[in-house]
Amino acid sequence: MGVGVSGWRLARAVARTGQLGVVSGTALDTVLIRTLQSGDPGGHLRRALAAYPVPGTAGAVLERYFVEGGVGEGGRFLTTPPLTADPGCPARALTVVANFCEVWLAKEGHRGPVGVNYLEKVQLATAPALFGAILAGVDYVLVGAGIPAHIPGLATRLSRLEPVTTDVTVEGDPEPLPVPFDPAAELAGAAVGGLRRPDVLAIVSLPALAAYLHRSERTRPDGFVVEGHRAGGHSAPPRGPLRLDEDGDPVYGPRDTPDFARMAALGLPFWIAGGACGPEQVARARAAGAAGVQVGSVFALCEESGLEPGLRRQLIERRLGTGLTVRNDPAASPTSFPFKVAGLPGTLADPAVAAARPRVCDLGYLRTPYRAADGALGYRCPAEPLVAYERKGGDRAGTEGRQCLCNGLTAAIGLGQRRPKGRVEPPVVTIGQDLDFLPHIAPGGEPYSAESVVRWLSEGLDGTAGAGPARTAGAKAL
Ligand SMILES: Cc1cc2nc3c(=O)[nH]c(=O)nc-3n(C[C@H](O)[C@H](O)[C@H](O)COP(=O)(O)O)c2cc1C
Repeated sequence: MGVGVSGWRLARAVARTGQLGVVSGTALDTVLIRTLQSGDPGGHLRRALAAYPVPGTAGAVLERYFVEGGVGEGGRFLTTPPLTADPGCPARALTVVANFCEVWLAKEGHRGPVGVNYLEKVQLATAPALFGAILAGVDYVLVGAGIPAHIPGLATRLSRLEPVTTDVTVEGDPEPLPVPFDPAAELAGAAVGGLRRPDVLAIVSLPALAAYLHRSERTRPDGFVVEGHRAGGHSAPPRGPLRLDEDGDPVYGPRDTPDFARMAALGLPFWIAGGACGPEQVARARAAGAAGVQVGSVFALCEESGLEPGLRRQLIERRLGTGLTVRNDPAASPTSFPFKVAGLPGTLADPAVAAARPRVCDLGYLRTPYRAADGALGYRCPAEPLVAYERKGGDRAGTEGRQCLCNGLTAAIGLGQRRPKGRVEPPVVTIGQDLDFLPHIAPGGEPYSAESVVRWLSEGLDGTAGAGPARTAGAKAL
């Protein structure tokens, strides 16, 4: 969930160098409406909205959410009801528009490649979000946090403006629920043609899943990202029974180390991610048969990152100074995937801050559908208020240590909700566990650009066979 950290500014800066710049596609509707309510400094979103192919839809978004000069320090942000399986749900149109705007801005003014990143677990959002990105001409879609078997077909059909169905898992139902999405309906008769199908990159932790996806033409992506467990954000849990170390983090073993020869044998391009930031790592990745590396943490700390500047400074200063702890917390994420949490004071990593935060669930990206006893379809999240979760049949034991990543990550990009009595949502900060690039790229903690990162990584291409960095290094933002 790189919510807004890997925003359009960062992706554009990377794409301009000829490398793939990737925007995070999670929670973009909230990022859009809160930025509009903050006065849309620079007018960027209004410029993107003006390019949206359905002026009526874009105009309605502007009308409802834009606040000239912003709501101000104490002002509360208007929210929207979360996405549901209902085809008439208004959050769908907003999701399409928001993904369009983010990708459109990332692609503005250059010809470099731009990708968008989704979490498979956030199933209800994927079809409308990907359609918005395709409308803006996205070049790649990267999907992890689950088994992205249906994404290749989804990308094909959406780019042809054909209706799609997403099979959504409903807890308590024996079969998934087919949720339809019709891209043509979103266009309300507007003439749109010539949409390009983006390439699909599946994010995997081990070759076994890659081989499974590769087996059938229906599920085969165009390439893979092989992500290790020290990468920022969510990670796959270790194979086998979960064992925890003295800090309570999962213990990974040799079975969790990917065999890159097996990856190479599949014959599709792949990129190595997770602590792979440096020229030597690029050279090693290429020697192992990879097309390049995917890096995230180094970009999260650069000047074009969407991470709130104060938090960014603290991360850099602590890593270069007294030390920074980054836990791989197996409980924090409602998805139940381990999630990297930086130990910064004033954030949800501080148990006192987490305990003082009243549970509120008003964004709901990580809610999962469930079947209620009366047969109705409901939605619940283990980080929501306990009474509500238990009323919905949720097990209290599964709520221990869960954090509201939706509100926490939105706060980390300076768009946190203000609550009654002057409370402000505390941030939660995710970053990778390998930040060894910092002493090289910013030895004195000085600000650095995304472009300087790409230049540094490209040194690893010296002496490797093949074309130059623009075609092959594959350094990517989050
Ligand atoms: C702040 C942050 C947020 C991230 N969010 C996501 C995400 O939403 N989805 C995803 O697939 N990967 C996410 N990642 C992982 C990156 O895409 C990338 O694979 C990883 O950062 C590479 O390893 P590194 O952190 O050691 O550079 C995130 C990484 C960071 C630092």
